[in-house]
Amino acid sequence: MPLTALPAWRALAAHFETIRDAQMRDWFAAEDAHAPTRAQRFTRTGGGLTLDFSKNRITDQSFALLLQLAREAGVEQKRDAMFAGEIVNPTEKRAALHTALRASDAHAPHAALIHQALEKMSAFAERVRGGHWRGYTGKPIRSIVNIGIGGSELGPKMVCEALHPFGTADLDVHFVSNIDGAEIQRALESIDLDTTLAIVVSKTFTTLETMSNARTLRDAFLQRGAPEAALNMHFVGVTANAQAAIQFGIAFEHLFEMWDWVGGRYSLWSAAGLAIMLKIGPTHFSALRAGAQQMDQHFLNAPLGNNLPVIIALLGIWYRNFFGAQSHLIAPYTSALRHLPAYLQQLEMESNGKSVDLDGQPVPYATAPVLWGAPGTNGQHAFFQMLHQGATLVPTDFIAALKPEHSLFDHHVKLLANCFAQSEALMRGQDADPAPHLRCPGNQPSNTLLLEALTPRALGALLALYEHKTFVQAAVWRINPFDQWGVELGKRLSIAIARALNSTQTLEDVHDSSTRMLIECATHWMKEKCRSAFQGLLDE
Ligand code: F6P
Repeated sequence: MPLTALPAWRALAAHFETIRDAQMRDWFAAEDAHAPTRAQRFTRTGGGLTLDFSKNRITDQSFALLLQLAREAGVEQKRDAMFAGEIVNPTEKRAALHTALRASDAHAPHAALIHQALEKMSAFAERVRGGHWRGYTGKPIRSIVNIGIGGSELGPKMVCEALHPFGTADLDVHFVSNIDGAEIQRALESIDLDTTLAIVVSKTFTTLETMSNARTLRDAFLQRGAPEAALNMHFVGVTANAQAAIQFGIAFEHLFEMWDWVGGRYSLWSAAGLAIMLKIGPTHFSALRAGAQQMDQHFLNAPLGNNLPVIIALLGIWYRNFFGAQSHLIAPYTSALRHLPAYLQQLEMESNGKSVDLDGQPVPYATAPVLWGAPGTNGQHAFFQMLHQGATLVPTDFIAALKPEHSLFDHHVKLLANCFAQSEALMRGQDADPAPHLRCPGNQPSNTLLLEALTPRALGALLALYEHKTFVQAAVWRINPFDQWGVELGKRLSIAIARALNSTQTLEDVHDSSTRMLIECATHWMKEKCRSAFQGLLDE
């Protein structure tokens, strides 16, 4: 039966018509002193996190219908299939076992392999952190350069930043991802090659950006006189393609494995998170995994109505498919989570930005919304105006840590006050004012996620929460959240255009007139540059 024909979907569509114009502030105002409040009815804990979802445009009936939708969509069976290692990524004929990466159960899929890989990572991290791994001039490592992009960068970068207080000050970690040469050049300006270790992270070991940056860094070593053999002490690789990494020049024993049953955007728990382990150490890395495992267990065992990932996924579906929301805002009220929105963008949009279902049929409903965000309070002074007085529905996730990571208590009080005030203002609005320009319609929905503190454990739980939210939405939408065929077309075309930019031949008629014109502008500029460089040589 098509999703939109399920009894729960139809009931939700009818129910939506009855509450589409209801005001959340009226529901809160009408609370009966003798009955549980909305906050009591719509707050749950799981994996060490607290979720208050009472400021959503739902009644008890909406919530019950959403849970019924999850049941009818087979979310529980699909979840169990994923944990059991069944092929849940049919277009690539792969399992999706990121949960196995943090399982403590010796019977979990690939347990021995994962344990072995973690041991290798830990031993390596201890050597580097202890100053025993030395560069070719005999100096200990002080800088790590993580070369990778997408899932091979966003997770590690976000976690290193979030857990900075848990990291060693003896190692600075740089992330180089973009093909824009400015990035690797800036990294080169701020590191001393003698004390630098590069981690080339690429599941495929073919990604254009990563390979170009890795080659540029390798050339920098050679240009400063390092012998080829010395590169071994400065490069390690993380990949599922050992052959290509060895061909690049990384010794087999300096390779850390990625597996085809873990997607790039789900891989920070594996060797793809080596930079994290180097920065925060094996013990904190274990705590990060343990937090994720706690959320995995919660997702597996909690009834749907108490299940945090299920709840936030269903609320997302409620807004996307019934209210027509186009986007979803992530507002972490902690600067340390400044890279969280970018990480979640890949997680949710690369996973669920699909419009063909598991049977290859076009889906007649919306899937992943645009996810965006910035840390509070900065967002308040930038785009929150639109949330308060614009005409667009934007569901928001507020994320706050109750205990600060610093000792400036006064700042923390103001930070939390702002976080709670924004969700209240967005819910309540202000329409009593006679001046129209002062009116705020309110009724903007939000979740508030509370962490006790931004520890490795809490962060692990938070990230697993969003991984499972993504999975639940895909399960309801009947799409494959584990492939990403859409990115291939742009990659293919860029190779053809790079060839055109490098060649003197006239352009084939394969490009449209706009693209041809852009290529011609660039080739003209490049010819000019070559001419002036040549002229410069003649002048000398
Ligand atoms: O192009 C998209 C993508 O394949 C992502 O899914 C992935 O995280 C990223 O590129 C990097 O891929 P790799 O780790 O193979 O270099």
